[in-house]
Amino acid sequence: MFADKTAIVTGGARGIGYECALKFAAGGATVVLVDVLEDAMKQAAERLAAAGAKQVLTYKVDVTDEAAVEKMIDEVADKTGRIDILVNNAGITRDDLLLRMEAAMWDLVMSVNLKGTFLMTKHAAKYMLRQRYGRIVNMASVSGLVGNPGQANYSASKAGVVGFTRTVARELAKRGITCNAVAPGFIKTDMTDVLPEKAKEMALAAIPMARMGAPEDVANVVAFLASDEASYVTGHVIPVDGGMAP
Ligand SMILES: NC(=O)c1ccc[n+]([C@@H]2O[C@H](COP(=O)([O-])OP(=O)(O)OC[C@H]3O[C@@H](n4cnc5c(N)ncnc54)[C@H](O)[C@@H]3O)[C@@H](O)[C@H]2O)c1
Repeated sequence: MFADKTAIVTGGARGIGYECALKFAAGGATVVLVDVLEDAMKQAAERLAAAGAKQVLTYKVDVTDEAAVEKMIDEVADKTGRIDILVNNAGITRDDLLLRMEAAMWDLVMSVNLKGTFLMTKHAAKYMLRQRYGRIVNMASVSGLVGNPGQANYSASKAGVVGFTRTVARELAKRGITCNAVAPGFIKTDMTDVLPEKAKEMALAAIPMARMGAPEDVANVVAFLASDEASYVTGHVIPVDGGMAP
């Protein structure tokens, strides 16, 4: 499904990003992991290789650092000859209620979730435009669609990702490049493992399917949007949430 393709996954060391990388590797792609967690990323690369990945490249790059992002993308294009798929999955939370939320928490979340997505897309799109082919999939969140108490910064950043996705889709639509987003609901990863029990109970109560999703549930939809089968789908947001979003 992804033979001869190069797929970059930010935040690919673990969780949803790793599961996306596994799908691309299984489909025959060269996989590029971009993360700030070097050890976890190396282990992830070993697991991908053991699962039969054709080629795995790893880059310790912070997606908010434009110079590092640009250098890494140029290097990937140099090494593999193409950049076909970009999954902007790196993301963080710094939760607190509005009146307790410090400006630094706002800035950090905006920077990683929104600016990081912009920087990666801008520099990867340069190569996708030359190829007249590209698949960009951004990680939004149900939080960005309906809001979530304690996540003013996070939900604003993910709503920003949705607007960004729609605009990039329109800008690049005539050049064989699609840009879509998925909006996960409540998925079992390191990000949600650290939530207090009370918050987990409240989240579960809001899911019609009454269970958390698995990273693979999200990766399945990402893989579809990144495939040639989704060539006429662009500018859309697909919730993967057990029925949470209205
Ligand atoms: N888990 C959920 O319930 C859920 C729900 C909705 C959306 N999401 C989104 O899905 C994405 C993945 O989440 P996850 O649950 O797998 O989280 P996770 O914390 O397990 O993984 C996130 C990865 O991103 C990396 N990362 C963080 N900051 C980075 C930076 N500046 N540069 C490069 N890499 C960086 C982390 O090191 C980590 O490997 C995130 O964008 C998250 O907001 C998750």
